[in-house]
Amino acid sequence: MQNFNYYNPVRILFGKGKVEELKNYIPQDANILLTYGGGSIKRNGIYEAVVESLKGHRFLEFGGIEANPKYETLMQAVKIVKEQNIDFILAVGGGSVLDGTKFIAAAALFEGDDPWDILAKAAPIKAAVPFGAVLTLAATGSEMNGNFVVSKSATQEKLAAGSEKVYPKFSVLDPEYTFSLPQRQVANGIIDSYVHTMEQYLTYPMGTEVQDALAEGILRILIQEGPKAIESEKPCYENRSTLMWAATNALNGLLSCGVVSDWSSHQIGHELTALHGLDHAVSLAVVLPGVLEFTKGMRSEKLLQYAQNVWNISEGDDAEKCMSAIAKTEQFFQQLGVKTRLSDYGIMEDTIDLIVKRFTDRGYPGIGYSGDIKVHDVATILKSRI
Ligand code: NZQ
Ligand code: ZN
Repeated sequence: MQNFNYYNPVRILFGKGKVEELKNYIPQDANILLTYGGGSIKRNGIYEAVVESLKGHRFLEFGGIEANPKYETLMQAVKIVKEQNIDFILAVGGGSVLDGTKFIAAAALFEGDDPWDILAKAAPIKAAVPFGAVLTLAATGSEMNGNFVVSKSATQEKLAAGSEKVYPKFSVLDPEYTFSLPQRQVANGIIDSYVHTMEQYLTYPMGTEVQDALAEGILRILIQEGPKAIESEKPCYENRSTLMWAATNALNGLLSCGVVSDWSSHQIGHELTALHGLDHAVSLAVVLPGVLEFTKGMRSEKLLQYAQNVWNISEGDDAEKCMSAIAKTEQFFQQLGVKTRLSDYGIMEDTIDLIVKRFTDRGYPGIGYSGDIKVHDVATILKSRI
């Protein structure tokens, strides 16, 4: 196991009706900005519940943060934070609203010329406006991490950054808040959680028994509970609470302690979203099988462990077990109703060339962090996904 530092200060308020408690964690005299997305919270009752809980607090609103939040939109909120002396932000929504809010919180106190540098040039975040979250979509883990991903319309870029300064002060996780999600977003959440776990688990054996057991447990639970959520006519509280807590645990930093992580599927997937608007999880469902196939020789030990411990595959020789695990992974995404080929989304070779060029122009030494995927390999991976 590699050495590691683990720090996670996020207070989790989990369960039915927990929104009532958020007022206990926001200073009484705070000047609050409530941030949200395209309006789902105004249709499903979450907005009313949050406003009720904020009784006695002063707050302004900023709505319209889109899926894959845009820098251009977020900068409008930054202006409000500065002009109105906002000193606490409450994000109510899915990963996009939470990520967008992290950027707003950091950009409002950014000392450089252009806060986009936080994403494009890894400019350090020295301070951020404190914020809390009410999560409405279980997927990204943003509710319990310091990461955020922001897109820029002007350049069709989608870039990630992270800082300890943008951990939420608290996150309300009420599984009932996910009942109003369309099935497409439920499936997206399951796939995103699954791929987060795989990005941290499926590289090389490192003597990380605890992390491996946690990762394999999360994967098995997603395989068991995911299809139930998609197939059942009515949302079930136990099923949604399991999926919600699985998503949080998939990306709250615990799984990556002491391991070599990958993140290549995410890096490549972000380009597909930036260029073609694919939902984040859809981009992962397309790319991950290609990454597993491309790295199956280099990562054979962990892939075999995955085949045996997650999919219970016992038939065939080791190579056949690995191939079967890759096939089952792709079938699982399809079972959730997501198409897994680039051609399903009208994406062809010209996009592949453009993605490789973008990575080359950015001077990336390789893709992901595990050192076994070079920039030119991205073409091989993506061509196998047409
Ligand atoms: O905008 P509204 O109207 O709220 O509608 C949203 C949106 O259209 C809707 N929705 C959310 N909660 C709902 C609901 N509809 C009905 N009922 C509810 N309870 O769902 C749509 C998608 O929402 P979004 O927030 O975009 O989805 P998700 O949570 O999957 O977030 C995706 C974003 O997170 C980033 C992705 O790249 C993408 O930009 N990620 C963030 C990460 C992190 N912070 O650690 C890691 C991830 O890998 C990911 O990259
Ligand atoms: Zn993701």
